[in-house]
Amino acid sequence: MTITDKNIAIEVRNLKKYFPVQEGFLASLFKRSENKYVHAVDDVSFAIKKGETFGLVGESGCGKSTTGYLIVQIEKLTSGSIYVKGVDAVTLSKSELNEVRKELQIIFQNPYESMSPRFSILDIIAEPLRLLNIIEDEDEIQKKVLEELTDVGLIPAEDFLDRFPHELSGGQRQRVSIARAFALDPTFVVADEPVSMLDVSIRVGVLKTMQELSKKRGTAFLFITHDLALARSMCDRIAVMYLGRIVEQGPTEEIVHNPLHPYTKALIAAVPVPDPDARRTEELPIVGEVPSGIDIAEGCRFHPRCIYVVDECKKIDPQLEPVKDNYSVACIRYKEINKIK
Ligand SMILES: Nc1ncnc2c1ncn2[C@@H]1O[C@H](COP(=O)(O)OP(=O)(O)OP(=O)(O)O)[C@@H](O)[C@H]1O
Ligand code: SF4
Ligand SMILES: [Mg+2]
Repeated sequence: MTITDKNIAIEVRNLKKYFPVQEGFLASLFKRSENKYVHAVDDVSFAIKKGETFGLVGESGCGKSTTGYLIVQIEKLTSGSIYVKGVDAVTLSKSELNEVRKELQIIFQNPYESMSPRFSILDIIAEPLRLLNIIEDEDEIQKKVLEELTDVGLIPAEDFLDRFPHELSGGQRQRVSIARAFALDPTFVVADEPVSMLDVSIRVGVLKTMQELSKKRGTAFLFITHDLALARSMCDRIAVMYLGRIVEQGPTEEIVHNPLHPYTKALIAAVPVPDPDARRTEELPIVGEVPSGIDIAEGCRFHPRCIYVVDECKKIDPQLEPVKDNYSVACIRYKEINKIK
């Protein structure tokens, strides 16, 4: 099957990643062996348009990074589909998949770990261009690298070519990572907590660079963060994840001003929103800690922490359903809770 909407750059359907759990030695001796899995990503679907920034938010361990890694093929899927420019990458042969890989790029949290300290900045950005034979002429490669450095604000670009990662600041190194990801003119870029290791004073500048570049180049951009305020400043749309599932998804301002899912309400209540019009939900504490992704509760997986839980929630596993234009939520009681007729 293919996707025919030309505006959609990437679409994932029913993504699942279950990690097998290694039992301790003693436990495996005394217990009957039983296969257990962490349901890191458990039936996640979304589409990102060209030039759109889509945010994945949620508490630690809810499956944000794993979702990103699955799309760029760092992690192998348990099941699901990943449509890149309309074609399901999961069905491709190894050689076809190598072609598609250049369309899927990632910017990691720690730029220092993701680049070889022995490579010059020229070589760090040029390496994938050379390896994938995207540009063969060395003068053309250098020209491309200079353009990319300029586009990420490392100017004059010539001054950076022969420098090494340790000679740059954290912000400059992250800008090099951005340049390397975008140099391949990818269809899709995922940035996983890309500024959390940077000094607060330079975060906005680095984020703005990524946002402008993806808009200018028409790249589908997946922004992963646990920080809802950051997601608000960056994203056109947001998906809120809880224990491997998306529980609410819609345009950023609608979600921030009028969240429908009890979990999103609690997340937003915990964030100082510098906007007097935003609906605050202080009366909504969240109960307990994030449970493990191993023994997931029956019915709605949020029910052990939800203050609106009723018996039905323990039986029905709510699916993400469209509730209005471009907006979906997974809660059987969202109408009552939000007084929607
Ligand atoms: N390689 C792995 N093997 C086993 N379990 C894993 C592996 N990678 C992730 N997990 C588990 O999968 C779940 C989702 O992890 P993931 O790193 O995707 O969460 P996250 O939302 O990115 O969290 P954080 O905000 O802390 O980065 C967690 O329970 C995690 O412990
Ligand atoms: S389905 Fe029930 S438990 Fe789940 S979020 Fe809605 S009200 Fe809470
Ligand atoms: Mg993560």
